[in-house]
Amino acid sequence: MIWAVVPAAGSGRRFGAELPKQYALIDGRPLLRWTLERLAAVPQLSGLMVVLAADDPHWPGWDAISGKPLLTAIGGAERADSVLSGLRALPAVVGDNDFVLVHDAARPCVRPDDIERLTRLAGAADGGLLAAPVRDTLKRSTDGRAVEQTVPRSELWRALTPQMFRRGALVRALEGAIAQDRQPTDEAQAIEWAGGRPLLVEGAEDNLKVTTARDLALAEWLLGEAVKRER
Ligand code: CTP
Ligand code: MG
Repeated sequence: MIWAVVPAAGSGRRFGAELPKQYALIDGRPLLRWTLERLAAVPQLSGLMVVLAADDPHWPGWDAISGKPLLTAIGGAERADSVLSGLRALPAVVGDNDFVLVHDAARPCVRPDDIERLTRLAGAADGGLLAAPVRDTLKRSTDGRAVEQTVPRSELWRALTPQMFRRGALVRALEGAIAQDRQPTDEAQAIEWAGGRPLLVEGAEDNLKVTTARDLALAEWLLGEAVKRER
């Protein structure tokens, strides 16, 4: 039994539009809808929990996607608070030891076959995440002006989502982090702090997170290509 938790309670400050980015239209449909359909296309997935801002006036009220149940919860101030709220609100059929996929609403270009591979490989380990090896040469600068050092990239990965962990372990890891006033930037970091070693599963690099308004045009183009590819 695998459910997805989709944090969609952010305000999209860097995107900077009136309408939060998760509702920006891509080919006439809200970005969030694209994300949910790509998740629901994964056969292993049983249902979706979407985490919304408390005062979200834009939520269309979907209660199923591609025949899979969709529930909602109310998010919090930080992404980790929203994810925790979604995990707590999952139905009781999702056991403590069942895996949960956490996926950013703002990543509509994720490929269903990458998610399937993640569920297979991370499910055989103790959880993991989609990630992509760093390709650019990396520079370190403390003053933001001059380079001090080139950082070797061979051991570095970019963390993407989905990230998949056991429901109970992830709840405990996030609660532990929040209790210590530490904000993990992703689920894997909370698990690492709790002593776990999440498995890296290489995924397509075009699983971008729509962050600025310019990312939207790129996401639209990528999804157009994906629709052609999958036809
Ligand atoms: N998110 C959330 N709850 C929060 C903050 C973020 O559910 N308190 C969600 C966002 O809706 C998004 C995902 O987490 O789907 C990744 O966050 P990010 O890309 O940073 O989105 P925002 O926080 O909305 O954007 P910004 O940081 O530019 O304000
Ligand atoms: Mg944010």
